[in-house]
Amino acid sequence: MNQTYRPVFLVTGGAGFIGANFVLRMRQNNLAKIINLDKLTYAGNPQTLVSLAEDPEHQLVRGDIGNTELVAHLLDKYQPDAVVNFAAESHVDRSILNPGEFVQTNVVGTLNLLDASRGYWRRLSKDQANRDKCNRFRFLHVSTDEVYGSLGPTDPPFREDTPYAPNSPYAASKASSDHLVRAYYHTYGMPVLTTNCSNNYGPYQFPEKLIPLIILNALQGKPLPVYGDGQNVRDWLYVTDHCDAIALVLEKGKLGETYNIGGINEKTNISVVTTICEILDKLSPKAGLDRKSLITFVKDRLGHDRRYAIDCSKIDRELGWKPKESFETGLQQTVQWYLSNPEWVEAVQSGAYQTWIHQNYGDRK
Ligand code: NAD
Ligand code: TYD
Repeated sequence: MNQTYRPVFLVTGGAGFIGANFVLRMRQNNLAKIINLDKLTYAGNPQTLVSLAEDPEHQLVRGDIGNTELVAHLLDKYQPDAVVNFAAESHVDRSILNPGEFVQTNVVGTLNLLDASRGYWRRLSKDQANRDKCNRFRFLHVSTDEVYGSLGPTDPPFREDTPYAPNSPYAASKASSDHLVRAYYHTYGMPVLTTNCSNNYGPYQFPEKLIPLIILNALQGKPLPVYGDGQNVRDWLYVTDHCDAIALVLEKGKLGETYNIGGINEKTNISVVTTICEILDKLSPKAGLDRKSLITFVKDRLGHDRRYAIDCSKIDRELGWKPKESFETGLQQTVQWYLSNPEWVEAVQSGAYQTWIHQNYGDRK
């Protein structure tokens, strides 16, 4: 998108962790007008977006990406320049318990969004007055490195041409949606882009994922559950670096391409947990408590992938993106954010944010 034109984005899943960080960043810098379509599942939290309550350029719509009529209506009404698809069921442990929901949202929902977007894009192409908008239109699909499977200790990091080998139901559903996005480019010529990113962390992450779970348990003196031997490796990226990469791919990415995004930051789980304990012992000491003593090794996750690592040299070389935040600074800021936002944490932990959703939206899906 060029500097002078301020685009409209239909963002899906923009009340979740990464989507909300993206929306906040776009609005704080006035870079785009946002229509935010979110089903507000347990992972969607409108309180994260409270600073945008009076912002006329952000509109939160509660709804499902799988709702054909709603999506078509939003596209025709708001005429977005891009669809940015964050909406997903995103937690591996939940996918092990309930894979069907993951297929429904991540596969069927994405297919519906693609199909509605194709219809909208075709309508734009037939209207002379909308030629520019049609040429600008992009469908950006936000995906994960987990589609590539698991690495051995000395394997090279995942590249864009690494064959897909998803192992969890979550990863399989995301892989499937990535294939559909690819197929819409090759079959219909739709202007799509896909990003595959490593593990994110930062403000507003729901405390079912490793880093916020450990921060909050450690603060509250609860056990810190580490799966298996704690030697699984993840490549951690601070969430705003991911958001900037997505904005850049939207602006400059080559149609039909995929871009790997990563933190160049491989850590074992046990080292992540230990570092969080050390930061908290400094920032929020509790007399007589060494938080490392709370670490508890628990039964391993089924099919637990051993190692993820991302080669993000393509996005660096072609678009000039590199992560700005180091793990040390990013983790410090993240711990500080959870310490400084007890109301957000309290509402998430007590489920009060869901009461708010119920009062505002009733039981409508
Ligand atoms: P999240 O679980 O925090 O948020 C997902 C959001 O999607 C929630 O607001 C939820 O209400 C919404 N949603 C779920 N089903 C929906 C539906 N059917 N229709 C509309 N909205 C729906 O997830 P996240 O961590 O913010 O991840 C966002 C995207 O980024 C996902 O596609 C995920 O696969 C991908 N991703 C995440 C990570 C990570 O580390 N968190 C890493 C790489 C890629
Ligand atoms: P998670 O945050 O669930 O992300 P993902 O499974 O998508 O990588 O988990 C990150 C790593 O931390 C993963 O190897 C599983 C591990 N883990 C624990 O050891 N304990 C926990 O309580 C959780 C939630 C995760």
